[in-house]
Amino acid sequence: MELSRRTVIAGAAAAGVTAATVGGTAHATGGRKPVKTLFGKLADGTKVYRWSLENGGTRLKVLSWGGVVQSLEIPDRRGRYANVSAGFDNLEDYVAKTPYFGALIGRYGNRIGKGKFTLDGKNYQLSVNDGEQSLHGGTQGFDKRVWDVEPFVKGSDVGLHLYYTSVDGEMGYPGTLKTKVTYTLTRHGDWRIDYEATTDKATVVNLTSHVYWNLAGEGSGTIEDHELQIAASRYTPTDAGLIPTGELAKVAGTPFDFSRTKPIGRDIRTSHPQLVTAKGFDHNWVLDKGITARPEHVATLRDPASGRTLKIATNEPGLQFYSGNFLDGTLTGPSGRTYRQGDALCLETQHFPDSPNKPKFPSTVLRPGQTYRTTTIHTFGC
Ligand code: GLA
Repeated sequence: MELSRRTVIAGAAAAGVTAATVGGTAHATGGRKPVKTLFGKLADGTKVYRWSLENGGTRLKVLSWGGVVQSLEIPDRRGRYANVSAGFDNLEDYVAKTPYFGALIGRYGNRIGKGKFTLDGKNYQLSVNDGEQSLHGGTQGFDKRVWDVEPFVKGSDVGLHLYYTSVDGEMGYPGTLKTKVTYTLTRHGDWRIDYEATTDKATVVNLTSHVYWNLAGEGSGTIEDHELQIAASRYTPTDAGLIPTGELAKVAGTPFDFSRTKPIGRDIRTSHPQLVTAKGFDHNWVLDKGITARPEHVATLRDPASGRTLKIATNEPGLQFYSGNFLDGTLTGPSGRTYRQGDALCLETQHFPDSPNKPKFPSTVLRPGQTYRTTTIHTFGC
């Protein structure tokens, strides 16, 4: 957070729900320990908790269901807070009809063509849930799992460790995948995600976060006025099933050129075949920096009206920009307003879609003894 550096304990009570409060010990130099409340119960009685964190002027609420960012509040240039992430105010909607609102995505963010791939001479068939394709890990991806959550306060940082172990063969993927995701709010109000995973058999993995951003506040209408910059000269065009063709096409001279800041709505109605197929932007940008040892800046999103900005840094080689094309007015957010097409957008840091079937794309293979590690940092400003 580039303006405010206030540190206030997060509000504990979910609307209509009271539950045990965990933690609450103030730290001398940093944030307060995250606060836990009951958010709801699954059909089998499993309790789902909501954790509230606040640091450096950013307020974050996270569910143990799917590691979902249920709310992320930041101030505008006049200090007025808004929740800038789309979601729901109740667990039932997350379970029944979420389009991955705020969720952790695994084992494989984005699509794998026909849900098939071959690794070390063995053929694998994954759970298919998007026409012929496997999307975001299959019918029961990491977004539909209950994660073990451990809060922490470390120096001036506050955060959550989230753990999920995916058993060998789950959704068709080989290997027991032990996953640890750390959400950190820094004293500057940055939200950092560190992903880690290990396996006991060769497998593929591509973890990401599926927050739907609207910097004017969720429920406030279209994101077409938001300005976006993506540090990429190429993108991966797709076929009709949104599977990359394998080509790394130049963005120059096309609606896909966000190398210099432009409003999202400027070219979104261009009848470019790639925009028609995807009903808007739903593509992977090939980040110019490539894979890097440390997170580097790759995108800036800005809402000119409120002044709120989001900057993204990552060590990943790709960024999926999805302009909320499938939102159709049937889902209602916490504000009580519905989400229509283009009312929120996703910026998913990742390896490229369908990499297991594209030998020329950076590899997503993870082998026993290796540790998968990626980091994405969201910096907010106004
Ligand atoms: C990703 C995909 C989109 C869509 C959304 C969820 O961003 O690329 O095509 O499936 O998730 O609706």
